[in-house]
Amino acid sequence: MPTFQTLPGFREFYPDTLARRNHIFRVWRHVANTFGFAEYDAPVLEPLELYKTKSGDEIESQLFNFTDKGGREVALRPEMTPTVCRLVGDKAPTLKRPVKWFSIAEFYRYERMQKGRGRCFFQFNADIFGEPGVEAETELIPLLVQCLRGFGLTEQDFLVRLSDRNLWFHYLEALGLDEPRSRAILTAVDKYEKIGDDAFKPCAGQQGAPLDAATKEKILAFLQIKSLETLEAALAPFATSPAAAKLNARLDDWKKLLGNLSAMGLEKYISVDLGVVRGLAYYTGFVFEAFDRKGTLRALAGGGRYDDLIGKLGYAGMPAVGFAIGDMTMNLLLEQRGLMPAFVQSPDVYAIIGGAQERLAALADIHAIRAAGFRVDYPMKDMAFGKQFKAAAESGAKLALIYGGDELAKGVVKIRDMTARTEQEVPKPDLPATVRDFLTAG
Ligand code: HAM
Repeated sequence: MPTFQTLPGFREFYPDTLARRNHIFRVWRHVANTFGFAEYDAPVLEPLELYKTKSGDEIESQLFNFTDKGGREVALRPEMTPTVCRLVGDKAPTLKRPVKWFSIAEFYRYERMQKGRGRCFFQFNADIFGEPGVEAETELIPLLVQCLRGFGLTEQDFLVRLSDRNLWFHYLEALGLDEPRSRAILTAVDKYEKIGDDAFKPCAGQQGAPLDAATKEKILAFLQIKSLETLEAALAPFATSPAAAKLNARLDDWKKLLGNLSAMGLEKYISVDLGVVRGLAYYTGFVFEAFDRKGTLRALAGGGRYDDLIGKLGYAGMPAVGFAIGDMTMNLLLEQRGLMPAFVQSPDVYAIIGGAQERLAALADIHAIRAAGFRVDYPMKDMAFGKQFKAAAESGAKLALIYGGDELAKGVVKIRDMTARTEQEVPKPDLPATVRDFLTAG
């Protein structure tokens, strides 16, 4: 018994699994093209430094990193965002803005394995650079929605939870909290859904004075906000506070963005949800995550605005927004909803071959029909006619071509329509055109 196995969390793609993966990629790629996004790719191995402090503690602790033979500290990419920032940063002066790019690529994180989470996974990343206003989110959120609807999923299957880190910071400032304290609180908000009240313990311990009960109450109420009306009501008491201008500006952005999404008829896919703040370190403004409605799966997608990251990598600053959808939860959701098609790779044509002489005649036609773009299969070794007919039927081919001794002598090929169960003889030189006409008709 061979003992080599895949590493934990790594996947092999047998043809049927790969067909499903390709289906997912095909839909994503098609949708991205309809939104006018251009595809790019980048290295799978990057300098470790690219992820240090930029991606956040969680991703940093999950890196697959090592020293290469040249003594460089390197890491397998855990995400695309720092990399695409480098690509854009490097060529910024020559790029036509806004830059709308997407990629489909594999990523690696040393995570605890669970349903929908592995150590290698694919993501569809889409990002817009150079647009500071909500016009960028107005492109990206509908793109995310369409990347899910493109499979036949509806508002009954998924929703996009929309929140705002900027608004959170302004709100916490209005409550009198300084920036380090606010950051600790947002980390707690991120964990609150999973671990409840315990999430706030580090906020008290590490940041000196414990969070007073009244402030905590307000934070808990704020993270439960699920509509624009409740948000407006929560901000109303700050109308005369020094933070009012900032809060009102954010509220205007919210109204504009939600108005744009409604104009596209997408409001049923979006839920205002201030409980989402995103764990990654670089997000600065609107953030969003897509989940299945039943709530049985981990997040399908996540993203947001990260206006400071390009600057942090040493380039001239440029506003940016983006998101990534993962293939694992996507696949699980499509399976659950019965939306993953069965992929049976049937040939168009199956050739049934009598013997050595007939094989030579058949090979010429097989090659010509394949060159014309049709799928042709045939037995590689001589086989009894009966077995070949059975194989042709099992293959699902639409046509069988019969190369027997009689046909060879007459200079014809017998074509069998496998559905209608009819046969006709065609002069050999006419065969490729006859097959093409049959397969392209209707
Ligand atoms: P993220 O939330 O870390 O964001 O990942 C986005 C999606 O990738 C998740 O919702 C999930 O579907 C998938 N994913 C993440 N980790 C795993 C894993 N270990 N196994 C399976 N699937 C996983 C980012 O990566 C950001 N860089 C997205 C972004 C792009 N922000 C701006 N632009």
